[in-house]
Amino acid sequence: MAYKTLVVETKNNVQVIRLNRPEALNALNSTLLVELSQALEKADTDAKVRAIVITGSEKAFAAGADIAEMATKSYADMALTDFFGAESTAIAATRKPIIAAVAGYALGGGCELAMMCDFIIAADTAKFGQPEINLGVIAGLGGTQRLTRFVGKSKAMEMHLTGRFMDAEEAERSGLVSRIVPAKKLMEDAIATAEKIAEKSALSTYAAKEAVNRAYETTMSEGLRFERRSFHSLFATDDQAEGMAAFLEKRTPQFRDK
Ligand code: HXC
Repeated sequence: MAYKTLVVETKNNVQVIRLNRPEALNALNSTLLVELSQALEKADTDAKVRAIVITGSEKAFAAGADIAEMATKSYADMALTDFFGAESTAIAATRKPIIAAVAGYALGGGCELAMMCDFIIAADTAKFGQPEINLGVIAGLGGTQRLTRFVGKSKAMEMHLTGRFMDAEEAERSGLVSRIVPAKKLMEDAIATAEKIAEKSALSTYAAKEAVNRAYETTMSEGLRFERRSFHSLFATDDQAEGMAAFLEKRTPQFRDK
């Protein structure tokens, strides 16, 4: 399928989705967010895709929601259409693992999109921020909730109240990103990481993603119960038998998603 704002490529079971609005530093407009939610829905049902990488350009992952598109909207326009509500819910509901490979600016909606992914690998050039306060608004794609859970209240509050940017070092130190890599190696590293994930059993991959995400949705005791039941249920799969047999036989497991 041809997209106006995305370049999508699948190789070795990894789908790379590149945000492609260079004229606006990949600002997220309606077309882009609709296309991205459609691409992810399609990836979720495409057997050739086992892991996804979302990335932008060297200069910007995404510099936020498109300010030109929002500038003249009224409260009623935003509230009655639940602006970007359906798209962001759909993106965050993707079942397959998604890595955000971030170089350059990930600001506002761009930072929020990166946080909707399962983890973020940052180039040493990455800059994260929630500068919406400078526009007389606040984050609207999850930034007040997700950033707070990732980096804690104090830093999240400072970022949202001042609009200052965080560099890659600070983002790694505070738990926003999993790793920093040199900008030139970003895609090579993110794709290699996705390929590693793509080799696992999809049954345990889905279970791991769902269980980790539970940590953000529920109490510790509920989360632990969920994890235990999920762990037990994997003993109904052929891939558990194969994975453990392969370890004992000192060979590479052949997972079949069964
Ligand atoms: C629309 C944008 C844009 C944006 C950049 N551009 N960010 N257009 N929406 N968010 C456009 C610029 O207008 C410019 O177009 C071109 O991209 C290049 O940007 P420059 O500003 O010239 O580049 P530079 O000087 O390098 O500065 C980079 C920057 C700055 C620091 C990232 O562009 C910036 O501050 N952008 C806005 C960041 C922001 O406030 N994001 C939050 C948005 S609100 P022209 O045509 O002039 O070349 C948000 C809410 C989310 O995200 C919730 C939604 C529900």
